[in-house]
Amino acid sequence: MSEQVTFDDLLHEEREFAPSKEFAEQAIVSDDSLYKQSEKDPLAFWEKEARELEWFAPWKEVMEWTPPHVKWFTNGRINLSHNCLDRHLKTWRRNKAAIIWEGENNEIKTFTYQQLHTDVCKFANAMKSLGVTKGTRVAIYMAMVPEAAIAMLACARIGAIHSVVFGGFSPESLSDRINDAQAELLITSDGGWRRGNIVPLKNEADKALENTPSIKNVVIVKRPHGEPFPCRVKDGRDHWYHRLMEEASADCPATELDSEDPLYTLYTSGTTGKPKGIVHTTGGYSVGTYATTKYVFDLKDEDIYWCTADVGWVTGHSYIVYGPLQCGATVLMYEGAPNYPENDRFWEIIERHRVSVFYTAPTAIRAFMKWGHQLPAKHDLSSLRLLGSVGEPINPEAWMWYHKHIGGGNCPIVDTWWQTETGSIMITTLPGYGKAKPGYAGVPFPGIQATILDEDGNEVESGSGLLAVTHPWPSMLRTIWGDDERFVNTYFSKWNKKIYFPGDGAKRDEKGNFMILGRVDDVLNVSGHRIGTMEVESALVDHHLVAEAAVVGRKHDLKGQAVVAFVTLKARATMSDAIKDELKKHVATKIGAIARPEEIIFAADLPKTRSGKIMRRLLRDIADGNALGDTTTLADPSVVEMVREQYEEKYGD
Ligand code: PRX
Repeated sequence: MSEQVTFDDLLHEEREFAPSKEFAEQAIVSDDSLYKQSEKDPLAFWEKEARELEWFAPWKEVMEWTPPHVKWFTNGRINLSHNCLDRHLKTWRRNKAAIIWEGENNEIKTFTYQQLHTDVCKFANAMKSLGVTKGTRVAIYMAMVPEAAIAMLACARIGAIHSVVFGGFSPESLSDRINDAQAELLITSDGGWRRGNIVPLKNEADKALENTPSIKNVVIVKRPHGEPFPCRVKDGRDHWYHRLMEEASADCPATELDSEDPLYTLYTSGTTGKPKGIVHTTGGYSVGTYATTKYVFDLKDEDIYWCTADVGWVTGHSYIVYGPLQCGATVLMYEGAPNYPENDRFWEIIERHRVSVFYTAPTAIRAFMKWGHQLPAKHDLSSLRLLGSVGEPINPEAWMWYHKHIGGGNCPIVDTWWQTETGSIMITTLPGYGKAKPGYAGVPFPGIQATILDEDGNEVESGSGLLAVTHPWPSMLRTIWGDDERFVNTYFSKWNKKIYFPGDGAKRDEKGNFMILGRVDDVLNVSGHRIGTMEVESALVDHHLVAEAAVVGRKHDLKGQAVVAFVTLKARATMSDAIKDELKKHVATKIGAIARPEEIIFAADLPKTRSGKIMRRLLRDIADGNALGDTTTLADPSVVEMVREQYEEKYGD
């Protein structure tokens, strides 16, 4: 594996943190019994978890495996919206807060399970009145408002397949996703608040809608606010959410779906320019998100649980909406930015709502570190009892800061490794039992079988290798929307059709703890978000002055990685800072602000091997400042030639 040599293998972490006696005593899991049971019989473990949910009809087989394809809980009939809502209405939880929402401008809105159920039923009926039915694809392009969760749950209720598109993506990214899934309904909002500014989602969506013939109707959620957000409402096609809700009946029994009926698609970056529509199905995803939320976050009825992700990402799907609501938890949902109006907004929220379980990303933790520990110290964070991390490797320094300054030194931290494709958490510690080791995600969750292999499929005993999942799990992706061949090629062709290749490098300590070393493919992880280098390259070459582009990641203190683009301009263009700015803007407009290159380096020629392959590793070294010093010299063709020769001497062709 050529990429392995770049892994940072030098870290020797010896500190271990066991849960306090007090935490372990109240924890759902405080010994190794789950691990033991699931090792003996993983299917029995999942089946036991599945039994805790309500099924309209029981399954025949727990798993039916025709590698690489798999079905879970075959012929079982279930509805995830029913398990998130109706199941709780029969208990005292009916009047428990399901979602406590805080807007950026300080409004607070609470939905009990009963109220959420009513709104979800009404909106499901409203969608039906617009012709949405089982299997219809529905795109959701919204701010972080409760109606985003309502829309998702309403789709799940009637078997419509939602495709949530992160509100920060560009109109072009939105239309690409709508067109790939042939979505018929788009749900959006007039706008949302972000760092004191209005994000005009409907206006952005309108640009996408110029190019999405499959869309028949648009629903606009009017975000409550002082000043109206101006937006266009097209007669016949566009409908206000609140008007539809006034007319809709609250009677909408959940559709009895097959366990393998698709639940949603969620697009994620891969190694080509075209994002992949990851397909999740109903039964297995329900079981996976339910079991992991319960055990990893140790959720109790008294908890106030806050996951800071956006519903536009898989973390928002599995651990804001579906997992916690299946567990009957109280979920805090926050609309805005962590630094508005001040840098201590998160700590203020934790104090105000007495948040007890807090799940965020290393990139946020590093920003908090930069802003200083004095800010959390100003607030009473004593309600916190458990912390989580997700999205990228958490460096031990950030881990220790999180532990000390947010957790007060006595909250376990669960570092959770998983992906859009895995649907739910795969590697972590269970907080009442496992010993957490900064920088190590932990061990495979009960029922998950993971290991480290080399390129040839041999187990790697020591040192780094490729992370591999050797047995199916319930919440795994079933295919890529409209492209099963890509599904097989991307995930199941590295070794054999039984082994899932997640695209990450890893190593293990002597106790079996996994350290995740990052992507081994051409996918970057910028602030915990996946960005395909090819996507950014396609956006760059789409600009009329660009001849060729190569994109690599550079280590970044806050974001983990930053996008650096090497660009050759067409002959008629002269290199200038103005063009650099224009190109950065062009990428942001084409994909979304998250993909905006941090730096553009002009090159007269891109260094290529004699066989014509771009020397990405060299470019990465140059971007990181490790190789050959002055990057500006790349503009001179003779230097490129020299660089190529030196590179080939060092690494071979
Ligand atoms: O590289 C891994 C990294 O994020 C990738 C998955 O990205 P995405 O599908 O967008 O899902 C992010 C949220 C689940 C993985 O392939 N990653 C995620 N969690 C961790 C991580 N890397 C290290 N440690 C983690 N805890």
